[in-house]
Amino acid sequence: MSREGLSFLDDEKPRIVMFCGKGGVGKTTAASATALHFARRSLKTLLISTDPTPSLSDILERDVSGNITPIEEVPGLEAVELDYDTVIDMWKKRFGREVYEVVSSFLPVDEEIIEYVAGAPGIDEEFALSYVYDLYRGGGYDLIVWDTAPAGGTLSLIKLQEKFYRHLGDAARLYVRVKKALDILVKGRERRDPLGIIEEWRRLAENVLSMLRDEHTKAFLVTIPEALGVNQTRRVKRELDEYGIKVSGVIVNYLVPEEEAERSEFNRKRREMQLRYLKEIESLFSDELRVIILHLLPFEVKGLKAIGEVERRLFPS
Ligand SMILES: Nc1ncnc2c1ncn2[C@@H]1O[C@H](COP(=O)(O)OP(=O)(O)OP(=O)(O)O)[C@@H](O)[C@H]1O
Ligand SMILES: [Mg+2]
Repeated sequence: MSREGLSFLDDEKPRIVMFCGKGGVGKTTAASATALHFARRSLKTLLISTDPTPSLSDILERDVSGNITPIEEVPGLEAVELDYDTVIDMWKKRFGREVYEVVSSFLPVDEEIIEYVAGAPGIDEEFALSYVYDLYRGGGYDLIVWDTAPAGGTLSLIKLQEKFYRHLGDAARLYVRVKKALDILVKGRERRDPLGIIEEWRRLAENVLSMLRDEHTKAFLVTIPEALGVNQTRRVKRELDEYGIKVSGVIVNYLVPEEEAERSEFNRKRREMQLRYLKEIESLFSDELRVIILHLLPFEVKGLKAIGEVERRLFPS
């Protein structure tokens, strides 16, 4: 078991730290504490949440939705949360026109196709990835701390990258096949070369994947000491492995502290149950990943002071 929490990150110069896990396990809490930690160590840090129903504004006690917002009390820290509607709007602005140009090059569609594609499941996650990639490549931040969509989402977005590739390949082949006929049909109309657009998308998907696979990208799984936590850790780890994305650690949250367990029968039983699952997580994963414990706190994690309390626990000196 790792006693020093996330402090090892201080020496690893991460460029992206991402937190994955199912709803309500403490991703936003862990991400906020991590961002605060590095901003206080003078790294220009962006805290970004792409959870479709985000809670970053609640925890930071200020509106950070849609726009990158400096957190004045902490120099070097900026935050943004992108809810579903914001992401879809951004997607339409960035890719809508291109999608229309590509699809309309081989199908008789009008611009409503943009709305249709924007409504496809996973488009928001797809866009979240390219948004993070742009910020990463832009180099304006030393570190991006990323509070991702709940488990299913994070994984499916990686799967999507793969599907995306395959579909693009198919589209490109189809395009080549019908190109002759198309040349006649579209003669005189001004449009960009759809194959060129597809190639750009392919490159973007490739860049996103190498960003996620980079050794300076640290992925953490946040989970709970219950059966669900064990299964989830196993599943997420396997899937991330398949894509060559290394999981650095698993944060086991909400463990009842020992001194509390001594005080009540209820807590004693609960901690006993939790320790069984914690042991299982450790015996399954501790030779490959760090197992980091975050105890159940007696207060709500809301506001910078409370985030600071979590930071102290996650990064003990
Ligand atoms: N160790 C802890 N002790 C006490 N409360 C905690 C702890 N960790 C998180 N919480 C509280 O639990 C709630 C859920 O945490 P958080 O919002 O970080 O989870 P999440 O995984 O981001 O959830 P969602 O998937 O809904 O975004 C919050 O109200 C937070 O204050
Ligand atoms: Mg959250």
